[in-house]
Amino acid sequence: MTELAFLLNGTPVRLGAVSPVRTLLDFLREDRGLTGTKEGCNEGDCGACTVMVTDAHGTRALNACILFLPQLHGKAVRTVEGISGPGGDLHTVQQAMIDHHGSQCGFCTPGFVVAMAVNHLNGVTDHDTALAGNLCRCTGYAPIIRAATAAESAPVPQWMRDDHRDTLPRTPTSTPPEDADLAFAGIPDAVRPQTGDALAQWYLANPEGRLIAGATDIGLWVTKGLRDLGPVAFIAGIEDLRGVTVTDSGIRIGANTTLAELGPEIAPYHPDFAELIRRYGSAQVRNAATIGGNIANGSPIGDSPPALIALGAMLHLRRGDTRRDILLEDFYLSYGKQDRQPGEFVEAVTIPRQTDRLRCYKLSKRFDQDISAVCGCFSITVDAGTVASARIAFGGMAGTPKRAAAVEAALIGNPWDAETVASALDAYASDFAPLSDMRASAAYRMEAARGMLMRYLLEDLGAQIRVLEVKA
Ligand SMILES: Cc1cc2nc3c(=O)[nH]c(=O)nc-3n(C[C@H](O)[C@H](O)[C@H](O)COP(=O)(O)OP(=O)(O)OC[C@H]3O[C@@H](n4cnc5c(N)ncnc54)[C@H](O)[C@@H]3O)c2cc1C
Ligand code: FES
Ligand code: FES
Repeated sequence: MTELAFLLNGTPVRLGAVSPVRTLLDFLREDRGLTGTKEGCNEGDCGACTVMVTDAHGTRALNACILFLPQLHGKAVRTVEGISGPGGDLHTVQQAMIDHHGSQCGFCTPGFVVAMAVNHLNGVTDHDTALAGNLCRCTGYAPIIRAATAAESAPVPQWMRDDHRDTLPRTPTSTPPEDADLAFAGIPDAVRPQTGDALAQWYLANPEGRLIAGATDIGLWVTKGLRDLGPVAFIAGIEDLRGVTVTDSGIRIGANTTLAELGPEIAPYHPDFAELIRRYGSAQVRNAATIGGNIANGSPIGDSPPALIALGAMLHLRRGDTRRDILLEDFYLSYGKQDRQPGEFVEAVTIPRQTDRLRCYKLSKRFDQDISAVCGCFSITVDAGTVASARIAFGGMAGTPKRAAAVEAALIGNPWDAETVASALDAYASDFAPLSDMRASAAYRMEAARGMLMRYLLEDLGAQIRVLEVKA
């Protein structure tokens, strides 16, 4: 059996008996006294707990409050205490925050500084997007963005390069295959399958078990729901369930592909899907959240299912050695219920290759880092001025992600113009009876969904109506 092991600020940590759902944040603050990492929301929303995590896939920012310790096995973690140099030299982003007055009360500052150090290391310069997951109540952001911009051209400090280059080989990522048994020493309720085959076997034998991929949903079941998860399998390390493969017939996305990985991969084929992903949570959330988790959780307000359904995606499921494929739209049966057998898991999803006609409209109260009130995705083809095909899917309009079958039927075969769209708007009432909740009223949702179809038409006819910034 393997001990749970990772590097913390350059020093190896080996853990015996520990709860498999102990969060890194609690471990840092309570067990190690590393209180620089702050607890703000404890649900992935504020970035105060941002840490830097390095593994074979690179270095990224993650929220420690929804990161369970076994997810760190074989990786290198740096907290705010670990990003200044030996002898206390400030990291270049720390100095820039001082120079540009990027900190006032200081509560958010450690999270910002760690996120900025990750971005600096990775050469990321779109600071608005990259720091959208870090909330600050004091500065108004401008000084922070100025600091991040000012630090861009400074070289990566030598100690950060050393860390990146030297620590990884010392992590236990190179666990030999014969040691790839599933368990962690001293943690009886957790396994870490390394292949899809190993997962299939374990899940067949433990159908009541819980799969944990990025934990951006499940983390909250623990930190907010105080739920006991029972036996769990940490599956994010299964490489054969990860990655995007493009063939002449389709784009296959492995279940373990993170949203951060998917964005740039899908952009050349369906740029609006990539843009939707840019508004999905925050960098910290996208770095952890997987497409498999986003599909399997069955949330009626998940963002990728409407886009995938509008693209006609096929879901690949596996139970033991049995595999089956179903259209993603058929996977969602009713609120909280999916067509998934005990012991069955998502292997991948495939989008058929097609000419891009996809447009996605995400409506949320806040532009960045917010869950959709309504997410509408449209793929309508037109032949000689007549609607030849239509695939329209919504999140936030029903108990599941759902196709707008009646609206589609009202469009197909008719001229692609405002008159057809106006008459198709009535069909929304046959497709949807949305709920009122804290995100939006039923009437607002219906109105917004109708407006999205009209917007698709107007954009398709050449109107420029994409507005990201309102200026007086
Ligand atoms: C701050 C914050 C912001 C968010 N913003 C958004 C947003 O903008 N849009 C959005 O859609 N979602 C958002 N989410 C929700 C969440 O990020 C997604 O649902 C995410 O994709 C879940 O993926 P995961 O890998 O983290 O899943 P996990 O939390 O690990 O698992 C979620 C569920 O899926 C199951 N599961 C995971 N992988 C598989 C598999 N391969 N086969 C079968 N079952 C599996 C798990 O058992 C569990 O039931 C947000 C979450 C947070 C915390
Ligand atoms: S404490 Fe807010 S994201 Fe972790
Ligand atoms: S400086 Fe006070 S919350 Fe950011």
